Amino acid sequence: MGPAAPLLACLLLAPLRLGAAPSKGPNCDPQAAAIVGGSSKLQRQGGALVYQCPAGQYPYPTPVRLCRADSRWSPLSSRDGRPLAKAECRAVQCPGPVEFENGQFHPRHTLYNVSQTVTFECFEGYTLRGAPTRTCQPNGKWSGETVVCDDGEGQCPDPGIPIGAMKDGQHYRVEDRVRYRCRRGLEMLGSSERTCQESGVWSGAEPECRDRSTYDTPEEVSAAFISSLAETAEVADPNRTLSDTAKRKIRIEPGGSMNIYLVLDASDSVGEGNFSLARDALVQLIEKISSYGVSPRYGLLTFATDPKVVVRTTDPQSSDANYVSDKLGELKYQTHALRSGTNTRRALEAVHNMIIEQEHDELQQGHKVAPVANSTRHVLVIMTDGNTNMGGSPEPVVHQIRELLSIGRNREDYLDIYVFGVGALVNLPNLNSLASHKSDEKHVFSVQDMKDLQKTFHHMIDESETLSMCGMGWEFPEASDRQKNPWHVSIKVTRPGKGVESCKGALVSEYFVLTAAHCFNIDDQAQWISVDLEEGAGGSPGARADRGNRVVALRSHPKYHIGGLQGAGVPEFYDYDVALLKLEKKVPSSFTARPICLPCTEGTTRALRKPHPQTTCKDHERLLLTAGEVQALFLHEGKDPQSQKKTLQRQTVHIKNGVKKSACEADAKKASIYVNVTDVSQVVTPRFLCTGGIDPVVDPNTCKGDSGGPLIIAKGKRYVQVGVISWGVVDVCKQRQKQAPAHARDFHLNLFTVLPWLREQLAEEGLGFL
Ligand SMILES: *[C@@H]1O[C@H](CO)[C@@H](O)[C@H](O)[C@H]1NC(C)=O
Ligand SMILES: *[C@@H]1O[C@H](CO)[C@@H](O)[C@H](O)[C@H]1NC(C)=O
Ligand SMILES: *[C@@H]1O[C@H](CO)[C@@H](O)[C@H](O)[C@H]1NC(C)=O
Repeated sequence: MGPAAPLLACLLLAPLRLGAAPSKGPNCDPQAAAIVGGSSKLQRQGGALVYQCPAGQYPYPTPVRLCRADSRWSPLSSRDGRPLAKAECRAVQCPGPVEFENGQFHPRHTLYNVSQTVTFECFEGYTLRGAPTRTCQPNGKWSGETVVCDDGEGQCPDPGIPIGAMKDGQHYRVEDRVRYRCRRGLEMLGSSERTCQESGVWSGAEPECRDRSTYDTPEEVSAAFISSLAETAEVADPNRTLSDTAKRKIRIEPGGSMNIYLVLDASDSVGEGNFSLARDALVQLIEKISSYGVSPRYGLLTFATDPKVVVRTTDPQSSDANYVSDKLGELKYQTHALRSGTNTRRALEAVHNMIIEQEHDELQQGHKVAPVANSTRHVLVIMTDGNTNMGGSPEPVVHQIRELLSIGRNREDYLDIYVFGVGALVNLPNLNSLASHKSDEKHVFSVQDMKDLQKTFHHMIDESETLSMCGMGWEFPEASDRQKNPWHVSIKVTRPGKGVESCKGALVSEYFVLTAAHCFNIDDQAQWISVDLEEGAGGSPGARADRGNRVVALRSHPKYHIGGLQGAGVPEFYDYDVALLKLEKKVPSSFTARPICLPCTEGTTRALRKPHPQTTCKDHERLLLTAGEVQALFLHEGKDPQSQKKTLQRQTVHIKNGVKKSACEADAKKASIYVNVTDVSQVVTPRFLCTGGIDPVVDPNTCKGDSGGPLIIAKGKRYVQVGVISWGVVDVCKQRQKQAPAHARDFHLNLFTVLPWLREQLAEEGLGFL
């Protein structure tokens, strides 16, 4: 049947649909197109059947079938119009090399099974570039890079022939061209034509010939995307210690700026679950970019049949990462009421218009040349399945944008278009036609599931730059408690012959843990103390002793004196209840171990996304401890009622920092040790923050075992410690069943009041105290 038939059927159906219930569309039977060895899921309100296969397999001959107007399943793309064979799950295989120049390879197959290898050798006189042996990987791609046998004669290096491709063009002098094609059945990513440039570099990006069943693993996406983005986004900071792996260059010159457009496909074919995951991945991306100290302007839009611009680059708040993150978080899949179609062209037009609008504004402000079109770098991040089904090809709009920004020789740096394809319906050639093609960089990614992409963006942020990345918790769905709270430590004091006492603390630098002074007695020795950074407190005791970090120095605040008020009849006094433990071994930053942010450090300025060095310590205090009730959190080690496993629970409390402060502090008199105190300010010195009680809401209380742990304020996805848990009016954990009384208040040592001591003790830690 020719392609005209379904179209005709549509026309006939259209008038009927106007009057009838909208659900009366074609109706296909999922059983009629079942897959052998796998399962299928209905999507697009029954309009599409998506196949799923076990790991290491892929659905053949098509990943999806669409319900046609005549209520029969059709493949998504049938080249000759004949119905495709019954679907089955087949083992993933890698396509074999078609051509290889100046050498040979073995074994020779058309398709290779996963784990099989192919080895390349060069003829005499040629030098082999790349690793000679490549392995077929479970995602259908070969390990390593294209192997080339080069005689070094060309002005450009031999560009090689990617596996699955064929090449035309044998000369590699300036202006020489090579052209590539893919073997039948494979789709091309990258550039089909490349020119040897005067710089000795080939134009465009290396092509890749892929089978439709191939996808990028999160690790591949993360490595390629971030090295490319770093090229664009990095601001050099000569004082920063750089990780070896990341490529870093100064690419934003003084006065230059950056616009980032986040373009999110919300059409039917993407599905709500994947839409939410894509949205969360973009929140991570914003976090990553902020961590470079770059504050680009953001444009944010979703699209289906129509684009919906949520943030414009001309909005005054478009460079406020928190604002954009919040807007992104609020995005709802349902906003696109009429979303059956995917109009990528209109979405790109909206981006184009945004640039024109900004240019207009800038010219009105008296600029002779609008910076947006001249010195601003533009980065588009598009997340879509690429199934443009209306509005025509978006490619001409890409050209319009290039023209508007005068992109061309010497100005390629000013535009990067990254396209992330997600889900079963991905249309690779469409994605490839939108994306940038740059030498040694990758701009098109095909991910199997959005969940993978979300993980990728989380991984991307993990770098060993502790200074700028304090207080970073991981919040992807499978993150462990430790990954969410990587600064959390348990402290044990083992006094010979007297048993063990435990406290909590927070990692504040590579060598130091901050905790409460009252966890220790005056004659405690450092070697009795150990610090545990392990997941929960599980595992065998033997294993834990191994992993626990030894303490080499205990430094309590010199003004802390528990018996300081005994002369006045007050048995215990907690003023300056803060201590630092110096660890024997440095704790390298990782997913599961990372310092929390301390007030008045450069890291916190960055976490608060404020300019450095203009932001002062007073600014930090004003931003973190605002007047009124300040939402904060502490960590409580508890048991999961179901699994009985130890968990770290985040408890939300409110610091009374306004009119409710004095009532909070007055309740200190209800503590059994303070019944004889007449003036509460005797024991509640200005060094304390007060939480707990039932006004304005019921706050959970700390327990004895929580002592020394941090009182934390969350700013976006970053965490800043403002207090150390010191003492409480009631030990609510002793009377778990009963509801805590209204006077159950907790007192935390306010870190802003001990800054001179922190600065002095942590002077060597490179925290950049303000
Ligand atoms: C791949 O595996 C299948 C099934 O185990 C086998 O029949 C086939 O020969 C293998 N292919 C190659 C190229 O070795
Ligand atoms: C995302 O899309 C893939 C492919 O269609 C699907 O298997 C997966 O379940 C989706 N994920 C969510 C969270 O909806
Ligand atoms: C309070 O004062 C009474 C009477 O002087 C005394 O017996 C009691 O021990 C004191 N309580 C505390 C907690 O200091």
